[in-house]
Amino acid sequence: MKELLAKPGFLAPAGTLGADVSYLLALVFTALFLVAWALAKKGLGTKHHKLIFVSMLSMAIYFCAYYYARQLGVLSLEGKEGFGGPESVYNNVFIPILTTHLTLVTLGLVMAVYMLIEGFRAASRQNGDYVLAGGELKVRPKTFKTVLWTLFGLWAANQMVLSFVRHASALASVAWALIFATIALVVGLEKLIEKALPDGARRHRILGRGTMIVYAMILITSTLTYLLLYVIYPVKH
Ligand code: HEM
Repeated sequence: MKELLAKPGFLAPAGTLGADVSYLLALVFTALFLVAWALAKKGLGTKHHKLIFVSMLSMAIYFCAYYYARQLGVLSLEGKEGFGGPESVYNNVFIPILTTHLTLVTLGLVMAVYMLIEGFRAASRQNGDYVLAGGELKVRPKTFKTVLWTLFGLWAANQMVLSFVRHASALASVAWALIFATIALVVGLEKLIEKALPDGARRHRILGRGTMIVYAMILITSTLTYLLLYVIYPVKH
């Protein structure tokens, strides 16, 4: 697989097949999100919901495959092997763009999951179509507690599997703990979000636009990363 991904690409002379395919896929998925935004703006709630669902699922699969197969982010943060330009550009331009990109990707994933759940909570079906219902949207204290305890239970079960079945490294445990802590933090944040934006429909529109802007910025930063790595400063062999 690694060899296949390292084969020459088709977009830029120095690009690899892995880089080109993943960049094109990023382009397609982000475009799908932006089309879903346009559908929502036109008031086509059901089409918006369906497209969001498909693009989110494919984007999540893509993200996992991308970071698993290429580990571009990790690799380029660790060393300069993939970057052929001067040290000053690497430190002052490339690294800040890549860090912004990775931060936005993380934020985008978290916000997408949040928005998907919020979408279902805030929307109701009228004559078979999804519409944003409006009105106060709050998590009941009992549900809130159940969600937090379920999370805790899942973390504990996963930790048992990591420790006793898979004999995973301490680093893996820390990474999983961070993932669960992030989910718990977002669930906790919901309390603050409810205070700031009590109306479910308004919350969906405002946070939804924020999420879409994050996606547009992901597209810009991934394009810049691609250009810097494979067009402007490719490694000379
Ligand atoms: C990642 C997930 C989602 C994002 C980022 C998102 C984003 C948005 C945005 C930005 C708008 C407002 C458009 C505008 O006025 O600018 C909107 C409206 C809407 N969304 Fe979502 N949404 C998501 C998921 C969902 C889901 C899962 C549902 C339904 C189950 C849903 C149902 C709706 C409906 C019914 C509207 C109102 C359309 C209208 O004005 O008639 N959304 N969404």
